[in-house]
Amino acid sequence: MVLLIKNIRQLIQILEPEIQWVAGNNMSHLNLIENAWLSIRDGLIDDFGRMDSGIPDAEELIDASGKIVMPAFCDSHTHLVYAGSREQEFVDRIQGLSYEQIARRGGGINNSAKRLRVTSEDELFEEAMNRIHEIISQGTGAVEIKSGYGLDTESELKMLRVIRRLKENTPLTVRSTFLGAHAVPAEFSGNQEGYVDMLISDMLPKVVAEGLADFIDVFCDEGFFTVENTARILEAGALSGLRPKIHANEMANSGGIQTGIKFNAISVDHLEFTGKDEIDALLGSSTMPTLLPGAALFLGLNQPPAREMISAGLPIALASDFNPGSSPSGNMMLMMALGCISLKMLPEEVIHAATINSAFAMGIEKEAGSITKGKKANLIITKKVPGYTFLPYAYGSNLIDTMILNGCIIENK
Ligand code: NIG
Ligand code: FE
Repeated sequence: MVLLIKNIRQLIQILEPEIQWVAGNNMSHLNLIENAWLSIRDGLIDDFGRMDSGIPDAEELIDASGKIVMPAFCDSHTHLVYAGSREQEFVDRIQGLSYEQIARRGGGINNSAKRLRVTSEDELFEEAMNRIHEIISQGTGAVEIKSGYGLDTESELKMLRVIRRLKENTPLTVRSTFLGAHAVPAEFSGNQEGYVDMLISDMLPKVVAEGLADFIDVFCDEGFFTVENTARILEAGALSGLRPKIHANEMANSGGIQTGIKFNAISVDHLEFTGKDEIDALLGSSTMPTLLPGAALFLGLNQPPAREMISAGLPIALASDFNPGSSPSGNMMLMMALGCISLKMLPEEVIHAATINSAFAMGIEKEAGSITKGKKANLIITKKVPGYTFLPYAYGSNLIDTMILNGCIIENK
């Protein structure tokens, strides 16, 4: 069966199949066809071209007059399996407490862990499924989801099993990450070493035995996990075949970026504290620097130096960090807007950052993240808009008209 989308105002983000990411000056150029068509067969992008060069026959037709067609977003960093919410901490921060102060008094990640431990797997699945429906309606076609609110073996396994069920029960492409080292749990308070010993000897082998994780993550930062303990965890992960994707340099110049690169991380994420040494280290690596402008805005953090990074020739990925503490939104169109507003990235740059570069950051660049023949037909058809610059400009508007995942039109839930 062929599904044809015709009269597309702009078909954007067309890339050759060998492109894995887009970096430096190339980020400010976007390949597109005006007045285009695109055909889908067996769930994949079959072909595309200009309307005036003739269109193929099709069984099903969508008229996209005045609309943009683009690859669905790849959100390469989320924590969207969690129990309840943390709006009291939001109010506490408005009244002057910092994220670190809240964490030190047992709030923050440990607050979510307390709730998650007493929530059943089924309830967690239901809550997460609602968030999945929400992000699909906002344009996401692929998502990475982390554990890290369990912080004991059983609860971490429970979270990862929920992520596996999401993988099996949604049309999204899902990748899962074991983040046992998100925070030191209350019962190991003052004993980070002891918690890491337990994580390596007990949690990790069980996660690996059940095949529950694609990646391993550590919150390597001041007030969280030290560079030494991060290295121990990543070494153990590597022995089990898990490539790192780590949280680094959000709170301070922690050495996390260099540690991630040393262990061949697929991405290092946050990077609010990034200087010349970090940029140089990233330039010699195949690690994707990933910025999370929702979290930086929500917590009132430093903004990472996106312009310097791009000028130096680096690629940048953008992700939502969807989580109850530092970014309770998985809206990637909004993240693109924040990329422009907070990070001074151009519309073309944020489109690369939220599609092909974030696809690379979760290891799916061969199947998603661009308009390329043979890739999954995971597509956004926007509402009528004047052109692609309007997408990050009209921040906060819902500009998604239709979502197509694996070649099928998704009904809004
Ligand atoms: O990516 N930085 C660490 N972890 C999350 C926050 C998690 C939370 O506060 O619940 C983040 O921002
Ligand atoms: Fe995070």
